[in-house]
Formats: sequence, C-alpha cells, structure tokens
Amino acid sequence: MSNTNSRGFTSNLGAILAAAGGAVGLGNIWRFPYMLGQNGGGAFLLVYILFVLMIGIPLMMTEFIIGRRSQRNVVGAYKTLGGKQKGWVLLGIFGIVAAFLIYAFYSVVAGWTLNYLVMSCRGQLAGLPPEEVANVFSTFTQGSFWPLFFQLIFLVMTGLVITMGVQKGIEKVGKILMPVLFLLLILMCVRSLTLSGSHQGMSFLFKPDFSKLTGQSILSALGQSFFSLSIGMGAMVTYGSYIRKEDRLFKTSIWIALCDLLVAVLAGIVIFPAVFAFGMDPASGPELVYVVLPNVFNNMPAGTLFAVIFFLLLAIAALTSTISLLEIIVAFGVEELHWKRSTASLVGTILVFVVGVFCTLSFGPLKDVKIFDRTIFEFFDLITASYLMPIGALLMTIFLGWCYPKVEVKDELSNNGTLKVRAFELYYIILRYIAPLALIAIIISGIVG
Ligand code: TRP
Repeated sequence: MSNTNSRGFTSNLGAILAAAGGAVGLGNIWRFPYMLGQNGGGAFLLVYILFVLMIGIPLMMTEFIIGRRSQRNVVGAYKTLGGKQKGWVLLGIFGIVAAFLIYAFYSVVAGWTLNYLVMSCRGQLAGLPPEEVANVFSTFTQGSFWPLFFQLIFLVMTGLVITMGVQKGIEKVGKILMPVLFLLLILMCVRSLTLSGSHQGMSFLFKPDFSKLTGQSILSALGQSFFSLSIGMGAMVTYGSYIRKEDRLFKTSIWIALCDLLVAVLAGIVIFPAVFAFGMDPASGPELVYVVLPNVFNNMPAGTLFAVIFFLLLAIAALTSTISLLEIIVAFGVEELHWKRSTASLVGTILVFVVGVFCTLSFGPLKDVKIFDRTIFEFFDLITASYLMPIGALLMTIFLGWCYPKVEVKDELSNNGTLKVRAFELYYIILRYIAPLALIAIIISGIVG
C-alpha cells in the first residue's frame, strides 16, 4: 500500500470537515437531545462537555495516532503497530464487526430521515393532530416496504460516495455538506429562539440543576460522548491514516470535537425552546425528533418550511456518518483483501443490508423476536453503544498506553519531534490511567445496571 500524500486527505481543513462529518450525526441531533431531555437538562450538558474535553479529545487523538503512524486501515494498523504481539489484530477485526453492527441499525434511523424529508416536502405532516402524527410514525416504522426502501436508498448513496474515493468522495462531500449543515442549523436556531416562550427551553438547557444528576445519568453522558465522537471502533483510526503527516493531530482533534459539541448544543437550542414553547414533553425519548417535533412544526408559522430544513439537516448529518462507517469496512477490503474500491463498497453494502433488514423489520413483522428481552434493533443499539464501543476504546488505550513505546507515541504526536507538544505528559496520563478507568466504569455500570 502506498503511503504517500496522494492516498489521503488533501488539506487539514478537508481532514477536519470529513472527520467532523463522521462524528456529527444522528448522535448529535437525534440521540443527544433525547438523552439530555431524559436526564434532566443543563447539568447533563455540563457533565457531557467535561467528558468531551477531558476524555473524548485524548481518545480521538489516540485513534489518529494509531491510524497515521501505521498508514493503514484498522486491521492493518494493529497488525503493523502490534508487531510481534499478533493478538492485537483481533482488536482491528473487532472494530470491523462493530462498524457492521452500528451501520446495520444506524441506517434504519437514517432511512427514516429520508421518509420524513419526503413527507415534509409533500406537506403530508402539516396540520395533523398530535395523535395522527404519532400514528404516522408507528405506521411507517412498523411497515416493511417503505422503511426498507429508504434504508436501501441511504446505503446506496453512501456506497456511491465511498466508491468515488477518499479525496473525490469523502473529503469533497464533507467540504460541501458540513458548511450546509451549519447554515441550516443556524437558521433553525433563529426560528426556535424567536418563538415566544423560548426562554423556558433555554433555561432547561443551560441552567444546571445538579439535583437531577444521578450516577446513571453521568454514565449516560460519558457513553453519549463516545458515541457522538465515533470513538472506539476504528472510524478515527481509518480517517487518521488519511491525515497528512504535517498536520497537527492535537489541533485537528480539538477542532473536530468542538464542531461535534457545537452541533449538539445547537441541536439542543433548536429543539428545547420549541418543545417548551408548545408545551411538549422533553423527556419523551427516541421519538423526540420524529413525533414531538412535527407537532411543534405544525404549530409554528412557516412550519412546513422548517420541517423540510430540519429533516434535510438530519439526513445530511446521518449521511456523513454512514460514509465514515462504510469506509472502515471498505478500507479493510481494499488494503487487506486487495479488492477494488467499488467491489469492497458493493460487498460491504450488501452485507450490511442483509443484516440491516432484520433491524428494520424488528419494528414491525419481527417485533416479537427478542434477544435478551430486546428487539433486534434495540439489541444492536445496546451492544454497540454500551459495550462494543467502550470495550474497543478500553483495549485501544491499553494497546497505545501500555503495549506500545511511549517515545513512538510522542514522535507521532509531535510530527517526528518537529512540534513542541507541551501537553504530552497530561495526554499520556489520561491515556494510561484516566480514560481506562472511566471506560471500565461505563462497562461495569452497563452490565450491572
Ligand atoms: N458519531 C456518530 C453520530 O453521532 C455515530 C457513530 C458512532 C459513528 N460510531 C461511529 C459514526 C463510528 C461513524 C463511525 O451520529
């Protein structure tokens, strides 16, 4: 595999936007608001921000170091850096499997965004009473043909972008769609903040009430920060291998994490003022954006227009994330199995769809199929976000912090000693001690609670 610059991103900005696209996704606009709503608001936000800064950024740097040092996909990376310790290859394979499982259930919700985009464009949600809006959601998600159709469209769009390559596909799409996403998000914020009664939502979001914080909600904030930053299963290892040798990994990670955080906060500013202004329930769970928001749109002036903007925004965010999920798999196919990029995209997409069908149907025809008391979709969501990502991240910190030479880590982070990395010792303490302990706490709490 050549490791010249022609292999990866052409600029630092391109790298930041592509990786921020991978991080910013349904996790920010769909999952974060409902988690915050269920965990009491402002205090959750504060804890979340703390985790992103203290643990999220160092772990993102860790993935970038592994990727850029090895110049390889996630399996190749552990093969190369693990050297004689051959067992680490398993961690790479673990990443590929996790990417498959996440992609399978993530593409279900991604498909929903397209359906809602089409419905909003056709004005099909406008003017419906709340029970009808809820009905539309359950009828649609419990069906077979349409949810599968939209899921497949999403998978095909993602596959096409990946087939176009790292520079002409991933980087280009990131450079175009991320600014569009920010613009649409700001438009939505302005709309939401100009609603009368919006201040209540703002206090819910920004005035912390620490009495609402429980051990469980602190751990949810930690888990959400990993999910949102896409840490723990090799997405950032893969993208790290495309970052130019002269770019600063520290600065790059900070920018990506701040973009991700900003989008989550802005999504909160879009959703909560509107939810409170119309007396809806902020703690309604995963249905928040699909059932609660359409009612909100129905009550506001120019609601249809804002519904279209919102679901377009959600679809864009989901697409840049599915791109990074498929790239984990395709980079492996191309570099380890020596497949053509187009073949790898096609095979990856077909395999994910085969598994994804079960996730989609688990809302309807297969809803009685339970694994450990959960539907297939819920099971995939749970094992990936609560177990595979934290376990993957834990093993990664053990690898880089304990089994790989410290001088090499420092060498990669400082671009072969050409940069001063003053915070290196702090980073290394987090890598060796703080992050693993936090991760063990999440994993145990997941098992116990
Ligand atoms: N971070 C993505 C989001 O916020 C979801 C995600 C989790 C992800 N793990 C990933 C995306 C791995 C790409 C790769 O929606």
